[in-house]
Formats: sequence, structure tokens, C-alpha cells
Amino acid sequence: MIRAEAVVDLDAIAHNIAVLQGIAPDSELMVVVKADAYGHGAIPVARQARESGVNWLGVALPSEALELRAAGDTGRILAWLWAPGDPDIDACVAQGVDLSVSSTWALAEVVASAQAAGTAARIHLKIDTGLSRNGCTLADWPELVTAVLAARDAGQVEVEAFWTHLANADVADDAYVLMQIEEFSAATAVAQARGLEVPNLHVANSAGVIAYPAAHTSIVRTGISVYGLSAGVVAGGVQVVPAMTLHSRLAMVKTIPVGTGVSYGASWRAPRDARIGLVPIGYADGIPRAASARGKVLVAGHLAPILGRVAMDQFVVDLSDHPTGIVEGAEVTVFGPGSHGEWTADDWAGAIDTIGYEIVTRLGVRVPRRYRGASWA
Ligand SMILES: Cc1ncc(COP(=O)(O)O)c(C=O)c1O
Repeated sequence: MIRAEAVVDLDAIAHNIAVLQGIAPDSELMVVVKADAYGHGAIPVARQARESGVNWLGVALPSEALELRAAGDTGRILAWLWAPGDPDIDACVAQGVDLSVSSTWALAEVVASAQAAGTAARIHLKIDTGLSRNGCTLADWPELVTAVLAARDAGQVEVEAFWTHLANADVADDAYVLMQIEEFSAATAVAQARGLEVPNLHVANSAGVIAYPAAHTSIVRTGISVYGLSAGVVAGGVQVVPAMTLHSRLAMVKTIPVGTGVSYGASWRAPRDARIGLVPIGYADGIPRAASARGKVLVAGHLAPILGRVAMDQFVVDLSDHPTGIVEGAEVTVFGPGSHGEWTADDWAGAIDTIGYEIVTRLGVRVPRRYRGASWA
């Protein structure tokens, strides 16, 4: 009997893609599959996205783009985060991966790779409109535009897009977001006035798609909503479905006498004789230690609170209020689509003061992923 597995419903992914496409009908979706598709498995999710007609995939790292190429993906992929000297830039350029450029050092590296490959590299110029991560500041933008124009005119780069990333799109009508959109327009106008025209613009993440129609440019970059989790914005009528269910099974069921401690530190002591169950997954599998004494799981369809500390490989739940008859092997749903008692990765996240993104992306390599839904899976 399997200790734990994450079942990913590719039909849910396809459904969520269709929902997002319906919200931004005039934009192309870039489905974000970085961090192993937020823990769901980059290669199957990428394949489902392509089957759903998605033209663009987005990843953070050049190595993530190359994994998709190695798996046979031949479509458009953008990789947007690397440090000077990244060993994968040559291969990305040679294999037709689009790369984000925020500064003249990155442009120089891409140009060197293009020359080595004897081709033009496709680049997306990122503008920092206020998130203050990567992206070219407005002060440095004219200098970068000058360098890009020279590289373009030399046939070393093709400039595919201008883009930026929003800081606060999960807050509707937020003045900071509106300021970012204005700064983006101003920067693109500066470049266009210099003769740098691009076929595409992209600004919105999932929350931006839901809350900011003004950010529905030719491409939108959607991650968390593709996986059916909350983008943090109240999304009336947005019916995405969580794609991942994390299953386990009880490895032990027993009664402990009043006063007995549970798990390291014995921080929880049984206030009465207690019926407890052992769930054989722990923080090495991605169950946050912060869920100690705060998280809950479904055991045989009923919520069971975590007792004491989550350990590396296991944690203990309280079954005292459960119906009798629960024995070893009973089904544990750590989180799922919400159809059984509304216990989703977002509920987990809320219980421990984090976001659903962190719950699914941290799922460890020891947890096998199984796919269902798509005919090819
Ligand atoms: C640059 C960029 N664009 C888009 C996304 C997708 O965001 P979300 O998952 O909120 O849709 C991310 C994710 O963090 C990102 O870093």
C-alpha cells in the first residue's frame, strides 16, 4: 500500500486554462510551469497546456526550459531569471528558448550565445515598474534600449516583448498597481519612440488577469490559477478547480492514556485517553513544520487536527472524535479539490499563515505524482 502520493488531475488543469482564457479572451496565455509546475510536474502540465492550445510556457530558470526541451516540447518558452555566467544560456539560445533581459550584462551574454550559435536570440525586455526585483529601472532603461537597438540592428537579437511584473495585483483597484501599469506604458513609449517595436507585451499574473482588465495585454502569465488555487484576490465567478490531491494512509492507530505526550518535545499531552493516528509523511515530504498543532487533514472524510510537532517523516492526528472503526490503512487526504469537506491547499495555507503556492511547491521528491484525466496520461 502506497505511503503517500499526489494525484494531479489534468482535466482540472485543462478546465482552469479554459476559465482563464475566458477571462482574458484577447490575450494569449503563458502558462507558468516553473518550480516543477508549482509541484504538479512540469512535463505533464506542459503537455496538457499544449494540448489545450497554449502557445507560451513560462519558467524562471534556463535549466527549467531545457528540461522541457529535453522532454520534447518544441513550442515557445520564456525563461526569466538567471545570474551572470549561467551555463545554460548557450543551450537556451541554440534551442530557441526566449530569454528575459533586464540589463546590459544579460544582453551581452545572450549576444555572445547568439554569435556562438550563429543565430539571433529572442529576448523579452523586462522593465522594473516598482516590484524592485529584476527588471530594468526607468533610470537605466534608455541605456539598455540603446544597447538592444545595436544588437537588433546587428542581427544578434529579436526583441519579442516588453514586460513587467505587478507587486500587488491581488488587491483590486490598488493605486500602486495602477502606477505600475502607467510606468510600463511610459517605458514602452520611450522605446517605441526610439524605433524599438515589439510584437508582444505582458504584465498580468493570475491575480492581474482576474482583477485588472487594464493589464490584459497580448500575453498574460498565469500560474497559480492554472493549478486551481487562490490568487489571493476575491474572484467572483472564477471557477477554477484545485488540480492536486495529496493522499496518504494511516500507518498506526492506537489509544494513548491521559497525560501521554505526542511527538518531539511532548508539547501536546492527552487531556483524556486519546485515539491517535500516525500519518507517514513529514516535513521532508513538504508538510510544513509550521503545521505542528495547527494543521488538519481529512481521515476517512472527517477533519483530524495535527497533534504536537510535525517530524521529518511523520505526524500524529487526533481521532478521538472520529467515528469508531478507523484502522491502519484508512485514507488520509492532506488536501484536495475541496469536494470532501472543503479542505484544500488554500485551507492548509490559511491554517498556518502562508499561501497555497508554498504548500504545493514544497511537496518533496519522495512523494510520487500520479496523473489522471487526460487521455494521453
Ligand atoms: C514573473 C512571474 N510572472 C508570472 C508568475 C505567475 O504568477 P501567479 O502564479 O500568481 O499567476 C510568476 C510567479 O510567481 C512570476 O514570477
